[in-house]
Amino acid sequence: MDINGEDLSPEREDIELHHVDFSYGSKSILHDVSLTIPEKTTVAIVGPSGSGKTTLCNLMARFWDVQSGSVSLGERDVREYSYDSLIRNFSFVFQRVYLFSDTIVNNIRFGKPNATLEEVKAAAKKARCYDFIMALPEGFDTVIGEGGATLSGGERQRISIARAIMKDAPIIILDEATANVDPENETELMEAISELTHDKTVIMIAHRLKTVRNADRIFVVDHGEIVQQGTHEELVSVDGLYRCFVMERKQAAGWKV
Ligand SMILES: Nc1ncnc2c1ncn2[C@@H]1O[C@H](COP(=O)(O)OP(=O)(O)O)[C@@H](O)[C@H]1O
Ligand SMILES: [Mg+2]
Repeated sequence: MDINGEDLSPEREDIELHHVDFSYGSKSILHDVSLTIPEKTTVAIVGPSGSGKTTLCNLMARFWDVQSGSVSLGERDVREYSYDSLIRNFSFVFQRVYLFSDTIVNNIRFGKPNATLEEVKAAAKKARCYDFIMALPEGFDTVIGEGGATLSGGERQRISIARAIMKDAPIIILDEATANVDPENETELMEAISELTHDKTVIMIAHRLKTVRNADRIFVVDHGEIVQQGTHEELVSVDGLYRCFVMERKQAAGWKV
């Protein structure tokens, strides 16, 4: 990756992939992928495991470079941006979270290094972590990790959301962020995500029908290609992978009752 990009601040944050081909080494992954995500819309990416969903999102923040075609943000190729000026537009939320062995306040402040304690606390409240943090022996100064406090997976994830709220990037990528959440954590996680994603561009790789169906646009990926796109209503009305996906979810939900 060259480091000679410009410090750019796009006027709009529309994302566009234009005939993108991508391989990891000699392993071809994405084939002729084109898509547009207008700013402040919510899109869902669905498709089988290994179909290329995570790879597709990672290309938007230029974790990798495309072999052909282009990825652009605000009508500028991502390769024209300096790394910092590109990456400040994105926050990623994953299911598994990396936190530093440092205090909670520093972990959250990482999203905005000059943030005041008041700002950190406000972000923690929005991310539904304030109460459990205050219940720890040293509150926001509690050290996480080795020799420090042990947090549950849900708590760690909400701290990472507080960090993302602090960063306040215009584009939020949720990569299976709500997969395998236990019911105990689900409400708080959904509330935290909704605080984070308010008024943002949201790209979610999701399994859950109730999150997917409300998206402005759904992209269905299979074997590295976009095989369908449209709204939930449009896609369920035609034969195809999306309809299979919906039937599977409905069945799975039925079994739980
Ligand atoms: N860093 C990597 N190096 C090599 N192959 C990878 C790498 N990351 C993912 N892959 C492969 O690329 C394909 C698509 O992966 P991924 O984008 O993670 O799919 P999904 O998110 O849809 O499950 C899979 O075959 C996966 O094994
Ligand atoms: Mg993935």
